[in-house]
Amino acid sequence: MTITTLDTPSAKPLLDWYDRHHRDLPWRVSPGMAARGVKPDPYHIWLSEVMLQQTTVQAVKPYFAKFLQRWPAVTSLAAAANDEVMAAWAGLGYYARARNLKKCAEAVAREYGGIFPDTEAGLKSLPGIGDYTAAAVAAIAFNRQAAVMDGNVERVISRLYAIETPLPAAKPVMKEKVVLLTPAARPGDFAQAMMDLGATICTPKRPACSLCPFRGACEALKFSDPELFPVKAAKKEKPVRQGAAFIAVTADGEILLRRRGDSGLLGGMTEVPTTAWTARIDGETSAEAAPFDAAWHACGTVIHVFTHFELRLSIYRTAIAATVDTNDGWWEPVTNLEAQALPTVMKKAIAAAIPLAFKTSKG
Ligand code: ADE
Repeated sequence: MTITTLDTPSAKPLLDWYDRHHRDLPWRVSPGMAARGVKPDPYHIWLSEVMLQQTTVQAVKPYFAKFLQRWPAVTSLAAAANDEVMAAWAGLGYYARARNLKKCAEAVAREYGGIFPDTEAGLKSLPGIGDYTAAAVAAIAFNRQAAVMDGNVERVISRLYAIETPLPAAKPVMKEKVVLLTPAARPGDFAQAMMDLGATICTPKRPACSLCPFRGACEALKFSDPELFPVKAAKKEKPVRQGAAFIAVTADGEILLRRRGDSGLLGGMTEVPTTAWTARIDGETSAEAAPFDAAWHACGTVIHVFTHFELRLSIYRTAIAATVDTNDGWWEPVTNLEAQALPTVMKKAIAAAIPLAFKTSKG
């Protein structure tokens, strides 16, 4: 496809808007601070970008604060125990990212003396750093002219150019547009401005076009309806799987936990005993799959949506006098559950059987 530069809007109105309306975020160096010579900390930028791929800015803030308090530098994260990092990540989802986060910190500590490489290519050579993170860290931490694409940026670009091709097929075209639009001066602020614009003005529903710095240039606003963009290919329904989870609690308030295998979904995380979830809708959900014989009582179903399937877990609970020997796992005080690397689906399963197990948890 041929791209001309004739129709490329200027980045200047967006940067002017960002100077006035940027969000204050804990990992961010605002334009005012940058003018006083403050430089972003590449560790903070990298950590926040990896976390932000999982969830919203609001949800990331407490995790970011917790990680920095415990591991103030990439070298301390590199030296941390794997289980502690997984436990601190629990609730953010997609645990392969936490494993890669740790591996990346180790590589930076070991191979680069604790100093992040400052180019997109150097960053991409690190474990767990893909196109998005390499571009975001290169632009934001090192002011490299890297084109940063995330969901917010895709929305802004699809509207600005009224791109009719549905996602994901439109991604390469969108990327070319972002390359053309990214300025040589302040590329990091440009990337963050696009993200802020997408999050606050160019929102999926009811965008505030009258406040948008691109309102004069936006083709969707001129010729169509911005809300119709980005065009998306029809969604396939997620397959449903089912299984059962078993919550055994002793009179002393201990619960049977075990560790999932290292590979695969939620690898290395903590769980209550469950059946396999590889099964389709006919998966085993009865108490016959329990880890030991006891009076197991059904206490409802928990539904959790993963990226590639929806899981329906039948929850069973038993109250026993004392711990029993099982081949697998350990008995943990229920009062210590917050410190375990329990993924959200497991917290939901436990909460279905023990409503007050997570008094403060939002994950
Ligand atoms: N989403 C992902 N990265 C972001 C950033 N650096 N600023 C704001 N929102 C983001």
